[in-house]
Amino acid sequence: MHDFVYKEKSLYCEDVPVEKIAAEVGTPLYLYSRKTLERHFSVFDGAFRAVPHLTCYSVKACSNIALLRLFARLGAGVDVVSGGEIFRALKAGVPADRIVYSGVGKTRAEIEYALQSDILQFNIESDQELELISRVAAAMGKQARIALRINPDVDPKTHPYISTGLKKNKFGIKIEAAFDEYKKAIGLPGILVTGIACHIGSQITEVTPFVDALKRVRAFVESLAAEGIAVKYLDLGGGLGITYNEETPPHPSEYARAVISEMQGMDCTLILEPGRVIVGNAGALVARVLYTKKSEVKNFIVVDAGMNDLVRPSLYDAFHEIRPVQITDAHEISADIVGPICESGDFLARSRQIADLSQGQLIAVMSAGAYGFSMSSNYNSRPRAAEVLVSGDSFSVIRQRETVEDLVRLESMPDYLK
Ligand code: LLP
Repeated sequence: MHDFVYKEKSLYCEDVPVEKIAAEVGTPLYLYSRKTLERHFSVFDGAFRAVPHLTCYSVKACSNIALLRLFARLGAGVDVVSGGEIFRALKAGVPADRIVYSGVGKTRAEIEYALQSDILQFNIESDQELELISRVAAAMGKQARIALRINPDVDPKTHPYISTGLKKNKFGIKIEAAFDEYKKAIGLPGILVTGIACHIGSQITEVTPFVDALKRVRAFVESLAAEGIAVKYLDLGGGLGITYNEETPPHPSEYARAVISEMQGMDCTLILEPGRVIVGNAGALVARVLYTKKSEVKNFIVVDAGMNDLVRPSLYDAFHEIRPVQITDAHEISADIVGPICESGDFLARSRQIADLSQGQLIAVMSAGAYGFSMSSNYNSRPRAAEVLVSGDSFSVIRQRETVEDLVRLESMPDYLK
């Protein structure tokens, strides 16, 4: 459910015509609906109201500080994976005691920053990381609250690039080794064991993999308890999928019901790290048709957004619905919708049935709120797109379009070229 709807034949985001925003801000641009964002967060968070929990929005999905503040005001915490994401969260006003920090490659500087900021919990992914965090915390005279991220070896049945809870993936500590690791952790200086974490993958469209992972984690927590090691926080990660095309993922309430029933009798505060399910369908990438080319074998619609703006189709062969911003009477054709980047892999859609578009028309690439702008780049020296947040009948630019000056701002000439 989202708030991009046609009124007459014109696509609106809430009560603002997309055409109007594109005319004022230019294209390509990312467009988010405040109403959808707030509803998605509230529905997800509300689904867990029966149990003590903290919903930590996953910053990587869409990292704009305006969105982070929006969620923080609804009571959200955040899941971060870098010092940069901690900085964003704090800047947006997320309380430090609602920040959980995952990631396999935390640097010493990032660990120091997180300790200095007094975040809620480090989700630790290796023995060496545990040792480093202990050393750094002890040297700073701090206690790092930690969870070990367990790799439960569960198949999330999703794209291999975004599955994380299998033995062959780089994430977490294998469950067989985790028991000894906990015993080690409780004896280390600067370490306070507070939780257990797992995250099995992303765009998961069934409840079963989550339940299977939770069953394993639960059995593990019970064996820890038998050894006198209690955990306060059970962090189940993110991963709930959305509808891009014809997927039928469970509703957050169904997911919550399954999780809550599997947790019966556990004395833990649940942490959830949803990203995509909150922002995915709340955002669209708006682009303008530059040229159309027709040949005997293919039709191409060249637009002004490319793989540097939205890499998901190129990287994962991901499907994003493409809507014309103005509905016309044009007949349907099959076309590749491609960007201006010098790569054959630069496409937003391939062999797509779409109304024959003409030069200057606008399109909306739907479901682009998650891993859209946050994965964008400057490849081909393309300034990154603007980001706009719509609220009712008004809109605000929440990130300006980059300029060509921005592209070279950090570059400099060595003396011998001056
Ligand atoms: N927690 C952890 C530890 C994660 O690694 C992730 C995502 C999340 C939470 C949020 O997962 P979500 O609820 O959004 O599924 N770029 C890919 C997705 C990569 C996901 C990485 N980790 C894509 O565009 O599909």
